Amino acid sequence: MPAAVKRTLEQALSGIEGEFSLDTSALNALVGRFHELMDYGLANTGADMAMIPSFVTGVPDGSETGTYLALDLGGTNLRVCAVKLNGDGTFKMTQEKYKVSDTLKQGPIAHLMDYIASSVDTFLTDNAASSAEGLDELNMGFTFSFPVEQTAIDRGQLIKWTKGFNCPDAPGKDVIQLLQAALDRKHIKVKVNALVNDTVGALLAHAYQSGGAFIGAIYGTGTNGAYVADIDDVKKLTIHGDSKPSHMLINTEWGGFDDDAQSRHEGAGLWVTSYDNYVDRTAIRPRHHCFEKMISGMYLGEVCRAVMISLIDRLLLFGGYSSTGMNTQYGFDTAYVSAVLADKDDTASKESATRKILVGTMGLKEEVVSAKDVEAVRRICSIVAIRAARLSAVPIAATIRHTGEDKKQGGKEIKVGVDGSVVEFLPGFKEEMSAGLVEMLGKETAGRIQLGYARDGSGVGAALCSLMAFKQQQAGHV
Ligand code: GLC
Repeated sequence: MPAAVKRTLEQALSGIEGEFSLDTSALNALVGRFHELMDYGLANTGADMAMIPSFVTGVPDGSETGTYLALDLGGTNLRVCAVKLNGDGTFKMTQEKYKVSDTLKQGPIAHLMDYIASSVDTFLTDNAASSAEGLDELNMGFTFSFPVEQTAIDRGQLIKWTKGFNCPDAPGKDVIQLLQAALDRKHIKVKVNALVNDTVGALLAHAYQSGGAFIGAIYGTGTNGAYVADIDDVKKLTIHGDSKPSHMLINTEWGGFDDDAQSRHEGAGLWVTSYDNYVDRTAIRPRHHCFEKMISGMYLGEVCRAVMISLIDRLLLFGGYSSTGMNTQYGFDTAYVSAVLADKDDTASKESATRKILVGTMGLKEEVVSAKDVEAVRRICSIVAIRAARLSAVPIAATIRHTGEDKKQGGKEIKVGVDGSVVEFLPGFKEEMSAGLVEMLGKETAGRIQLGYARDGSGVGAALCSLMAFKQQQAGHV
């Protein structure tokens, strides 16, 4: 009885839409909760939203020069780069990417560090000419995009893993020491002198390229942000000596926002659906970084898959048939969500990208995918993506309000450097995010926010941080 099925699928989809939707008051409630957790993290160590001091106390202005090595771990690939800063806001980068296998991601940390050291070695051998030229004693900045309790610009212990990494013996250990030891074991003449989170890197890179920045945000494999905090707000930091800086970049680790779920009963925290809980439960680290699991590239496809599976189980989608691809965890990649959202073809067309993904990639039988199913899949992807974009606006609005930056700058622009596959490739993401910002901050303040791409933040940012560290180390400040 197709008519009845049609109505029921429609009803189910409207129900799902309701569960995923966040109106303005829900967004504002999240801003309030975000402020509480910012204050808590700035005053205490060990918070879920860790608010980590980066020991970077200023931002570049574009005049910086020199060539530095950068290492980037924590996105899709491991990258080794040589970055030449030209001193005019531009740079030249030579880079190579290396795959990190799941075995390395989840095995002993020494194996991962040895692999990284070998990759650096390969890079230096392959790029001898370009990278050796002008290198300042082979200083290297390490963009390590995980929560690290930093104690200096070149010191920090891993708090916990995120995003599918889980080397069991690494938490609590100093990441720079581990890497330096691996490089030394192979007699590679590189000094790792700076430890950088990718959000800090994005902020620095954006400042270098556009003459200033207040927030650096990543919406990629994971999500997180860093901002320029007034040092007096960082209550947990004791600074010895009289050279107290006025500001410090703080890595918020907002992926862990509301992990404790304490105020959800009162309706003030994150509203998670049963689909989110499924994704969380089956993830490598359940109950950690739940906010990230609702927003970032590692998980968005999986949230869509969870919704699709539930509709298949209710016999509302694909006539109740699934496929091995559809039954495989992380089988529906976030790149497919982007492709589905970009697909404007007729739902019945054999050429539609959505149909090609469902049949060609996910392995569903051609005959079980109706035009209605194609339409439903598009709607599911859109529901999940819109929520991700609106949620993504919350930390930006909250940070701007918390710091009083909206009032402080007296009408000047508030520069936000963003990077990552989700903000870059998910159709409509930036627009939905901007709409959310207007709802939370009002037209005037939101109109002052400049969302710009922090190009190659992890590479350029690590190079800039390495340069800053080098200068600090030479001046004997570290
Ligand atoms: C995860 C990491 C965080 C990183 C973010 C984006 O949330 O914990 O350190 O910045 O992913 O890569």
